[in-house]
Amino acid sequence: MRRILIVGGKRLAGEVEVSGSKNASLPILAATILTRGMSTLSSVPCLLDILTMIRVLRALGIRAEYSPPNTVKVWVNDHVKHIAPYELVTKMRASFFIMGPLLARTGFAKVPLPGGCAIGSRPVNIHIKGLEALGAKIELEHGFVIARASKLKGDRIILDFPSVGATENVMMAATLAEGETVIENSAREPEIVDLANYLIKAGAKISGAGTDIIKIEGVKELNAVNHKIIPDRIEAGTLMIAAAITRGDVVIKNINADHIDSIILKLRSAGIEISVNGNQVRVHSPDGIKPVDIITQPFPGFPTDMQPQMVALLALASGTSVVTETVFENRFMHVHELKRMGADIRLEGLSAIVNGVNKLEGAPVKSRDLRAGAALIVAGLVAEGETLIEDMDRFIERGYEGIDKKLISLGADIRELKNISDYEDE
Ligand code: UD1
Repeated sequence: MRRILIVGGKRLAGEVEVSGSKNASLPILAATILTRGMSTLSSVPCLLDILTMIRVLRALGIRAEYSPPNTVKVWVNDHVKHIAPYELVTKMRASFFIMGPLLARTGFAKVPLPGGCAIGSRPVNIHIKGLEALGAKIELEHGFVIARASKLKGDRIILDFPSVGATENVMMAATLAEGETVIENSAREPEIVDLANYLIKAGAKISGAGTDIIKIEGVKELNAVNHKIIPDRIEAGTLMIAAAITRGDVVIKNINADHIDSIILKLRSAGIEISVNGNQVRVHSPDGIKPVDIITQPFPGFPTDMQPQMVALLALASGTSVVTETVFENRFMHVHELKRMGADIRLEGLSAIVNGVNKLEGAPVKSRDLRAGAALIVAGLVAEGETLIEDMDRFIERGYEGIDKKLISLGADIRELKNISDYEDE
């Protein structure tokens, strides 16, 4: 277990670069199953989740190699296995992204049900319904989803909810289906556009990605291609909040401003000065933080993946904010830890009522999911005294490439603790 100690109170300043997007890399790695030949993906963040997806591909008989710093090469030939191993898929929900491509490519896929996770039950019913609409016969047996289709056939699909993963899974499967598929009420996240761009380069016929109606005209085969992954908008937003909460002055490079519009708008409403200049953004926070109300929504709404970090920021606002979570049913675990740091937050149904306090106090805290962990880091940067964060490698580092090093480069006081006694002795 990797633990870090943050000594709060340092104002962040300087320049920092955002890594490639984890949530764009994962489905694109899965999409390589649809291709033949060698794909080279660049700007892939070096994260545990990416390594897990590489291991999933390898288990399917595909050669996949990570070349530091940020390139993954994938070689796919005619022999792709059908069964994804239980221990990998249950480790990471995004492994389920292989279902659609595997089925489309080989006509048969056996993938374990990913199960729930800390932020909610997260079923895959919408993925399954979408694949069934393309003609797949799907059975659940002994905890595995087994899908068969000698040839998928395009159809009109209306998703019950604009699920990111279901949109991606169905879009990937439809690229090799016979005829036209129309996905209505599709998710519009930038990661879906990146996946579509990769598939289009590979020879797929897709239009409408980034809108709520995606059309896919099936083709016979896809070729391996090179692709650069988009910047990680959630890492960008997290770094912006880290700058804002410490009243810092930070330039964040490698961003796409269109992807972080809703975050910029909310931070400006909270009194943070933000100027966008091409692919970089300067966050300047001379005054205090004003309260703002937030409702998480699918893109282009405020992202659920930024909700915990925003709650940490608003914990120090000069008034009361109401933060409502509509995407996941159990995404307020950071609230209990923030309260241990002195935050005044009350949970009421889907909302957190955040009464701003003058200061947070450092404390030993535990992150139980990736973004909750990011919220605790952000809080630790400004808290009085020391904040000990456990399980960095199990949660936070699944989604943030070198986050502690990046923050240290901006002036944060973050130390790695080898043993728990290092903390108790200090
Ligand atoms: C993706 C992101 C995750 C982000 C989420 C919402 C990746 C790897 N992960 O997750 O970081 O928080 O989008 O922006 O890209 N649902 C169902 N049935 C389904 C599918 C989803 O009920 O078949 C529900 C989920 O339980 C959840 C909501 O729909 O409550 C949104 O989930 P979804 O958009 O599918 O998120 P993921 O693709 O899992």
